[in-house]
Amino acid sequence: MEGNHSRRLLVLGAGPAQLGLLAAARRRDLFVIAVDRDPAAPGFQYADRRAIISVEDEQAIEHLATADPVDGVIAPGIDWPVAIAARVSERLGIPHPVSSESALLATSKLRQRERFAASGVPQPRYDVCSSEAEAAAAADSLGYPCVLKPIDRQGQRGLTIVEEPEALGAAIEDALRESRSGVFLVEELVDGPEVTVNAFTVQGRFHPLTVTDRVVASPPAFGVALAHVWRSSLDPQTVGAAVEAASAAAEALGIEDGPTYTQLRIGREGPRVGELAARLGGGHDAELCAAALGVDLNGLALAAVLGDEIPERALVPIERAGGACVRFLVAPPGELRDVEGVEDACAVEGVLDVRLYRRAGHRFGELRHGSDRAGAVIAVGATREEALARAGRAAECVRFDTVVEALASHT
Ligand SMILES: Nc1ncnc2c1ncn2[C@@H]1O[C@H](COP(=O)(O)OP(=O)(O)OP(=O)(O)O)[C@@H](O)[C@H]1O
Ligand SMILES: [Mg+2]
Repeated sequence: MEGNHSRRLLVLGAGPAQLGLLAAARRRDLFVIAVDRDPAAPGFQYADRRAIISVEDEQAIEHLATADPVDGVIAPGIDWPVAIAARVSERLGIPHPVSSESALLATSKLRQRERFAASGVPQPRYDVCSSEAEAAAAADSLGYPCVLKPIDRQGQRGLTIVEEPEALGAAIEDALRESRSGVFLVEELVDGPEVTVNAFTVQGRFHPLTVTDRVVASPPAFGVALAHVWRSSLDPQTVGAAVEAASAAAEALGIEDGPTYTQLRIGREGPRVGELAARLGGGHDAELCAAALGVDLNGLALAAVLGDEIPERALVPIERAGGACVRFLVAPPGELRDVEGVEDACAVEGVLDVRLYRRAGHRFGELRHGSDRAGAVIAVGATREEALARAGRAAECVRFDTVVEALASHT
């Protein structure tokens, strides 16, 4: 019954990236309206009402939020709707942790780079391009290998590492095809280990929480995360420098409140901010933080979006494990028929959760983007190595039964 719920929350997205937040909202006394264009989105199981609309359809979202007024709008796990949530909240006059100006900065890789440059936040050297000639000149001056990416996409869409001039044309085509604006960046490749800084800001005070190693796939799946591992294997000084850079990045974008997810690679001259997202991470990072440090990032994000006061103690990290990780699952290409072994995987010591992203009938391609991943295992252990080993054992239990249908011949 709707009347029994004290407050109404609009959640943009009901996919794998929003599962944790939606489950946390479900556990509270909230009426949850979830938006996703995919009627089979797994997060809908936690919603009181589902709206089958795109998370990018600002008009429809605003209509939904006004027709039956909501107390908060949140976009966990994916970038583009972060700015929509901020703007709609502003127009509705309801509390929101991030101003629409900051949200806009955070959802444009270019605006973000410009702001970082103005504020002295360490980042890769870059050039803005919209044509082949510009890109060729930029790549020549930055040197190979370099990285191409649209300014307004995420999930590795249109993202390519370019090893040599001969490969530039295809990368430009890909970046332009994916770019909403026709604009893309050519960046210096920062070659070194990568960390993610998960943090939460309260009234301008940045609280760093889990700093995790991002284990990534190789090209053609460049940049796709295969695991997030806590604690980081880097030395404390480097971790500290990464936290400082993430904090400076949040300040540069004017983030006063709420969660941030900052990706950094450690180059020869220190950490370089790849990108800051003004939201919870999309790879079960909040659940990893709870398992590692006992800090409920999902709960904090809910409090921030509803304008609730956040007590200091909610942010105090108390280690719950020596190591923790999220390990993503990858299925063989083909149409998914069945998944076996999930119970066995859940029974492996230290495994907290096994999540499956797709239902039978889904067609998996070769791993190229984050969205090609099939699920994830969350595990803890006495050390990071033990957590990883346990997650590995659990992953081996899960068998994705996929079928490649004979391709119709066109000859
Ligand atoms: N200039 C760079 N130097 C080194 N690695 C990079 C660079 N740009 C991107 N990467 C790699 O690609 C990953 C994704 O990059 P980025 O965040 O820019 O793209 P995205 O499409 O937003 O992906 P995601 O959704 O994972 O954030 C990074 O985490 C990093 O591993
Ligand atoms: Mg990114």
